[in-house]
Amino acid sequence: MIGDFDLAAVPPGFHADPYPTYHALREADPVRRMPDGSRFLSRYDDVAAVYRDTRAFSSDKRTEFRPKYGAGSRLYEHHTTSLVFNDPPLHTRVRRLMMGALTVRAIAAMEPSLIRLVDRLLDDAAARQEIDLIADFASAIPVEVIGNLLDVPHADRAPLRGWSLAILGALEPKLTDTQRAAGEIAVGEFTAYLRGLVADRRKHPGDPSQDVLTRLIQGEGDERLSETELLQNCIFILNAGHETTTNLIGNGLHALLEWPDQRARLLAEPELIRSAIEEFLRFDSSNQLGNRISTIATEIGGVPVAPGTPVTLCIGAANRDPAQFAEPDRLDLAREPNRHLAFGLGVHQCAGMTLARLEGRIAIGRFVQRFPEFRANGAPVRGGRVRFRGFLSLPVRTA
Ligand code: HEM
Repeated sequence: MIGDFDLAAVPPGFHADPYPTYHALREADPVRRMPDGSRFLSRYDDVAAVYRDTRAFSSDKRTEFRPKYGAGSRLYEHHTTSLVFNDPPLHTRVRRLMMGALTVRAIAAMEPSLIRLVDRLLDDAAARQEIDLIADFASAIPVEVIGNLLDVPHADRAPLRGWSLAILGALEPKLTDTQRAAGEIAVGEFTAYLRGLVADRRKHPGDPSQDVLTRLIQGEGDERLSETELLQNCIFILNAGHETTTNLIGNGLHALLEWPDQRARLLAEPELIRSAIEEFLRFDSSNQLGNRISTIATEIGGVPVAPGTPVTLCIGAANRDPAQFAEPDRLDLAREPNRHLAFGLGVHQCAGMTLARLEGRIAIGRFVQRFPEFRANGAPVRGGRVRFRGFLSLPVRTA
């Protein structure tokens, strides 16, 4: 099964179900050397150890992205300026500013408007009876939530999802010319749009304890971001919360279609929704891959690794590792403990995880209670990407 496994040319059936391949890799070759010289990790302990070890493993992607995008490209400027692909000091500066507006209190304050939004979508679904869970429900939620976080005017929100899909699509291990071109255009349009929004917000600042954009513009003490750092990190935050959260909602509801006993359990015990969200995050993680590069001669799981080696951290495989999770291929909404790696680990651990969990809880919890009998209404269409795992389309009947 894993003979010549290569992320850049995955075997047939991989997108439908990558987990048998991940299991085979973990058993036979858990620190696998890929054809391009990088290492692919599939054991939980190895993935967690690399996430934690910021001395030996860097998030800086300049070396890898220069040949991928071209040093003068917009995609290169965007991805190498965003906090997720940087080490300290840029990472620490941006993260500190961002987290000041993503506090537990600020996120809890979003709950009432999120419930109103979800209930509006559910009323619409009830009236139509046949909906696409992705287009009509899952993707409509994050665009509003992230739009609110940066206070993007409602009338301007329509292009956000397309820009985000194109920019993150350009992170696929194997990039087509079409994906590259779409990513370049999206960064250009997104930056131009944000320039106007930032200029306007400078004139009319919002509340920095809730408005991430005002907070990033104003900085803290002597700390200010340059214009490029500001624009590119706004793009990143708008992107980071889109496809990942859409896919948490889509993958979670799909899992409930496949596991009727777990759906019945959630209906009988609605308070299980919190642990259910953790299990959806583990079971079919919307972000399947992380990346680091070694900075010194080191080792991973006993395998020597030379400096400058790119390392792929397979979150999807780690989250199905039987050494960490009993019966890892079983969906168990009450799983405890559940120390999944869906949000990564260490200094770069997802800055939006409290928000993502809230969105998942309100969206999935309310959908299931409102439509306990929802069922498939045609074949789902998978996204066909190795990094971001989700559906393009998931038709259902609500009654
Ligand atoms: C289910 C939804 C989500 C998943 C699975 C997810 C996953 C991740 C992962 C795995 C990382 C770590 C990347 C690394 O270390 O290389 C990350 C970082 C990040 N995420 Fe999320 N994320 C989600 C939702 C969100 C949301 C809603 C936001 C926006 C508020 C967000 C903002 C960020 C930011 C800003 C970072 C960079 C943190 C840093 O580098 O310090 N994410 N996310």
